[in-house]
Amino acid sequence: MAQTLNGKIALLILFTSAVVLAGWYYDGSRLLRADLRPVVIHDVATHHTQTARTIKTSNLTKLSYSNGTSKPATMSPPTEKDSRQTCQERTKIVFIKTHKTGGTSFVQILHRFGYLRNLSFVIPTKRGPGTMNGLYPKGLKKSSNYLPPQDGAFDILAYHTIYDRKAITNLFNNPENVTFVTLLREPLSQFRSSFNYYHLARQFNIVSETPIATFLQSPAKYNPRLRLPSLTKSPMALDLGFPPTAIISSTALSLRNQSEKYSPTIRDFARKISDEFDLVMLTEFFDESLVLFKRMMCWQLKDILYYKTNGYIYAQKEEVVSEKLRQSHKRWDVVDYPLYEKLNNTLRDKINELGSDFLSEVVHFKTVNAKMHQYCIGNASSSLGTNDYLIIEKSAWNDVFVITPSFCTLAKLGIRCYMTLLRDRNLRVTNSSHTQFPTNNAYEPLTRIDNDKRYGEGFYTERYCQICEDIKRDCTLNEYLTHLFHEKLIYPFDTSFYVSVHGGRGPVEKTLEE
Ligand SMILES: *[C@@H]1O[C@H](CO)[C@@H](O)[C@H](O)[C@H]1NC(C)=O
Ligand SMILES: *[C@@H]1O[C@H](CO)[C@@H](O)[C@H](O)[C@H]1NC(C)=O
Ligand SMILES: *[C@@H]1O[C@H](CO)[C@@H](O)[C@H](O)[C@H]1NC(C)=O
Ligand SMILES: *[C@@H]1O[C@H](CO)[C@@H](O)[C@H](O)[C@H]1NC(C)=O
Ligand SMILES: *[C@@H]1O[C@H](CO)[C@@H](O)[C@H](O)[C@H]1NC(C)=O
Ligand SMILES: *[C@@H]1O[C@H](CO)[C@@H](O)[C@H](O)[C@H]1NC(C)=O
Ligand SMILES: *[C@@H]1O[C@H](CO)[C@@H](O)[C@H](O)[C@H]1NC(C)=O
Ligand SMILES: *[C@@H]1O[C@H](CO)[C@@H](O)[C@H](O)[C@H]1NC(C)=O
Repeated sequence: MAQTLNGKIALLILFTSAVVLAGWYYDGSRLLRADLRPVVIHDVATHHTQTARTIKTSNLTKLSYSNGTSKPATMSPPTEKDSRQTCQERTKIVFIKTHKTGGTSFVQILHRFGYLRNLSFVIPTKRGPGTMNGLYPKGLKKSSNYLPPQDGAFDILAYHTIYDRKAITNLFNNPENVTFVTLLREPLSQFRSSFNYYHLARQFNIVSETPIATFLQSPAKYNPRLRLPSLTKSPMALDLGFPPTAIISSTALSLRNQSEKYSPTIRDFARKISDEFDLVMLTEFFDESLVLFKRMMCWQLKDILYYKTNGYIYAQKEEVVSEKLRQSHKRWDVVDYPLYEKLNNTLRDKINELGSDFLSEVVHFKTVNAKMHQYCIGNASSSLGTNDYLIIEKSAWNDVFVITPSFCTLAKLGIRCYMTLLRDRNLRVTNSSHTQFPTNNAYEPLTRIDNDKRYGEGFYTERYCQICEDIKRDCTLNEYLTHLFHEKLIYPFDTSFYVSVHGGRGPVEKTLEE
């Protein structure tokens, strides 16, 4: 490890003043020891003094990495405002995160968007383990369950909670301006994911080569009770507010009545969800859903670039399920099937209406997302070139924009780290006794940190964070430093890993899937 570390330290790229250089070495080596993550900083001071100008590029994939011996890229990020844009970016969002549908990838998009714009998230008060479910199932009913908004009004709700429209709209000053979104997944594949994630074979004492089939032969025997979140009984409907008692009775009825027809209660519920939500995304059409979302919200292409997160490979995913057992699942998961079918039709209609331009945009989005992934792998040994930014050329659907190493870090930043950084920011902003930092003009030279005993812990002190231990636990050093630079708590540096080891805890692509 030490050897690798020395190698990585050798890669540290510094073109900065001697004073700060000394400070960095001291701090850098100590921090590196603490976290064993290599860090590269390059001076971006020049960028601040340059006026933004548009980059003229003809090649979509012009890659530019800084290798430290040349000046940092001569261009500064262009202004990314789309000149053709007539609508106004929408920033008030409620995302009802259903269980085991792949919603974490979407939360990551919301996190990055809101983080970069300093928006106010509804953050559960509960810290540490269980924080993700701090608003579940009905946590919004009590204001002590969440932190007060950072700036007097909430913008984004993104964590697990049972859809309760009244409790939610009460949170917002202008509920009519809030966009409601959720995500559904084909029920059998949602079930497979739950089965794996919650170790249901073990929970249900199923010993079998084909546990899914065994379960589906007699689901009521293995999962008689309904708990929250629901393991196998219409879990998505439950998260969307279908009453637990109605799920129990609907399931019982469905098991008795072999009819293909769904009760009016169930059909009405599916229609209600379709009506009340501005967009119901589907895991199976995730990219299409995102482009719809982008258009609806008047966002930029860059805003919806993403990494698939929380993806797993597991045996139950592959287990073949006979048609007979699929029907059995349909009877068991009796509210989720018609719900999914209804919203699948709704989505299909929306897409058909938009026609070929929409489909071309989806293809374009997939291409750009793949370019972003390729760049963010930051494979120094590949022949990608050695400049600073990835430039995405203007297209019918986006203006030119750049992807920087910092963007890579933010795109890969895990859900927990974001949540912790957002919590920290909230606590800092709302804590009147905290000395807000930075002051007007200046940043603290890093050497002073060294001279001041109070800063013995370097960046993990109250000057920089309110909940430093949480940050240490949930974020890598590189992620945290990227945050400090973004907040201008450290200035005027930028940070990134050397291109071969871009930061973040994002999944390794292609080896992971939902
Ligand atoms: C891409 O860049 C190369 C060299 O920089 C140039 O010769 C070529 O014309 C460009 N391609 C397009 C489509 O503009
Ligand atoms: C860095 O880039 C410059 C100019 O592109 C090149 O001449 C130099 O060999 C590169 N250095 C390394 C260490 O890759
Ligand atoms: C973020 O928002 C808070 C609260 O509105 C404000 O105090 C703070 O200055 C903002 N920070 C930035 C960098 O805009
Ligand atoms: C609500 O949104 C509309 C447009 O969608 C906008 O004109 C209006 O100013 C917004 N109201 C508030 C209070 O943000
Ligand atoms: C049972 O099936 C019949 C025949 O399709 C249907 O009319 C009825 O609504 C079902 N019963 C219930 C309670 O759903
Ligand atoms: C969802 O809709 C697509 C067409 O948009 C269709 O091919 C697919 O079979 C539908 N899936 C389900 C489960 O209804
Ligand atoms: C990096 O590039 C080298 C050479 O092109 C290749 O062999 C290697 O597999 C790449 N590594 C990753 C992580 O893509
Ligand atoms: C407010 O900030 C100060 C200084 O960072 C810290 O000591 C104190 O514990 C914070 N108060 C609360 C209520 O978090």
